[in-house]
Amino acid sequence: MQTTRIAFFDAKPYDLPAFEAQGKVRGIEFKFFDTQLNRDTVDLAKGSDGVCVFVNDTLDAPVIDRLHSFGIRIAALRCAGYNNVDLSHAFGRLHVVRVPAYSPYAVAEHAMALLLTSIRRVHKAYNRTREFNFSLSGLTGFDLHGKTVGVVGTGRIGRVFIDICRGFGMKILAYDKFPADLEGVTYAELPRLFAESDIISLHCPLTEETHHLINRDTIGSLKKGVVIINTSRGALIDSEALLDGIKSRKIGAACLDVYEEESDIFFHDFSGHIVEDDTLARLISMPNVIVTSHQAFLTEEALKNIAETTVSNILAFQERGMCENELCYHCGKQDSCRKKRQERCF
Ligand code: NAI
Repeated sequence: MQTTRIAFFDAKPYDLPAFEAQGKVRGIEFKFFDTQLNRDTVDLAKGSDGVCVFVNDTLDAPVIDRLHSFGIRIAALRCAGYNNVDLSHAFGRLHVVRVPAYSPYAVAEHAMALLLTSIRRVHKAYNRTREFNFSLSGLTGFDLHGKTVGVVGTGRIGRVFIDICRGFGMKILAYDKFPADLEGVTYAELPRLFAESDIISLHCPLTEETHHLINRDTIGSLKKGVVIINTSRGALIDSEALLDGIKSRKIGAACLDVYEEESDIFFHDFSGHIVEDDTLARLISMPNVIVTSHQAFLTEEALKNIAETTVSNILAFQERGMCENELCYHCGKQDSCRKKRQERCF
């Protein structure tokens, strides 16, 4: 069996066991690099047959051109989102495959974990009781039962989150560019969702259209005391506007697993260092903001599924020259999507 060599960027200790095991049995040799893929590091991929990248690696035009000049034809994203890839430049040069779903439960359950932690002040109680402080003052929360949750994006993760919220007896308002027929879910346009929701959870992709969906204007239209949850992509929210919304008490709490400037910060240990990003530092200092560093996907089940699908994507491309999880900038477009006609993207 011929071995396929894949340069694996932004490798973390939790990635290694599943990918090494999959690679071993299925003939792929991963070369793991701690560093993220970008213009400065792309030369590490020289001599490989493909690259495997994650959410904060950069596949912009210069990186794509350089990979192409090395004879590399495949970039395997080990994630669902692909806002870090210049798909239109990749067209004709680099085949981009992704893992569209690995555990919507992991992300949706983390969104609910953040919400419950925030509104029942679990993070504060945990710190207090560790110091033998058993006072309850300042820990009053509120019931989720009967509250309205606005879910933006009712795809795989949004739907699981909706199911969880229904279990709590919450009313569901939803917005999606392509609404589905979901039992017990009322679809509404964004202005209504913003005006009526006690909690808003973002589960749509980051696109030009959704960039800064939560901004100064939309924050002005929210219900006072609203809780905002973002487990999708950081740039869905204008962080400065969010901070101001929190300072003005318009926003009751924010639960953030993603942050718009996360790429140089998240996944790294900065304890003992000074974090340069003042907005993030200020957000973290707020008593009603909880930040986790893009960990919503991080469950054993999801890691196993990610490794399996990534390896299958690479092998499908190697063996058949096409893969059902390939993406291009024509994807889904009525007239130009070739995959819809069972053809290769290019
Ligand atoms: P999905 O593709 O199943 O669902 C996305 C939904 O958003 C679709 O129903 C789509 O119609 C809708 N949508 C597209 N454009 C929209 C717009 N302009 N306004 C409103 N809705 C729009 O994706 P899935 O698997 O549910 O993932 C959602 C997002 O979660 C991903 O885009 C990714 O950014 C994020 N994610 C975060 C993870 C984490 O660890 N924090 C892990 C996995 C995904």
